[in-house]
Amino acid sequence: MKFFVDTAEINEIRELAATGLLDGVTTNPSLIAKSGRRILDVIAEICEVVSGPVSAEVAATEHGQMMKEAAVLRKIAPNVAIKVPLTVDGLKTCHALAQEGVMVNVTLCFSAAQALLAAKAGAAFISPFIGRLDDIGQDGMGLIADIVQIYANYPNIKTEVLAASIRHPIHLIEAAKMGADVATIPPGVIKQLYNHPLTDKGLAGFLKDWAGTGQSIV
Ligand code: G3P
Repeated sequence: MKFFVDTAEINEIRELAATGLLDGVTTNPSLIAKSGRRILDVIAEICEVVSGPVSAEVAATEHGQMMKEAAVLRKIAPNVAIKVPLTVDGLKTCHALAQEGVMVNVTLCFSAAQALLAAKAGAAFISPFIGRLDDIGQDGMGLIADIVQIYANYPNIKTEVLAASIRHPIHLIEAAKMGADVATIPPGVIKQLYNHPLTDKGLAGFLKDWAGTGQSIV
């Protein structure tokens, strides 16, 4: 499973890239707003640090304008994936960009039917939002399972399932069990993945016993 980080904070991205665990980055207009910076600067800086796909989302809602924004964003670096919303105009834009060989991430997916449309439009990634479905009492994980199952029925579908709106490690583990290709994870949740109380307890015990030997390895 590929790990993307869902943030526009360059310092967090640098820190994670140094671990070697980072395969890509996703941003969205809310994350860019939170960074307080200009989208073009942020995306350019991220692309200097990460060689995998970096999703940059259009802000327009009309196809022609989306294409104009995509033209600007894709010039930043070859690894920019254009992110479009799952609307008619978004899918038209996805289709047009895919024909030109551009990676497109179709976002705001909340149903398996929408995911089928994105695949037909040639999306490189479909982003089903797990947490936001859970928030309204619907089954976010069930959506991932449905999409993975449907795509697997059609080997000609090359769209990767990118589990998004991940709120905690269980979302990630369940998505991995279901075979999602990618997860985009907030930095806070990535940090949670490392932690287990038995690891801390075990290490404390080893260090205590080691100190008692009086040895040193180097
Ligand atoms: O970037 C898309 C998605 O991961 C957003 O997640 O937490 O705002 O629902 P969230």
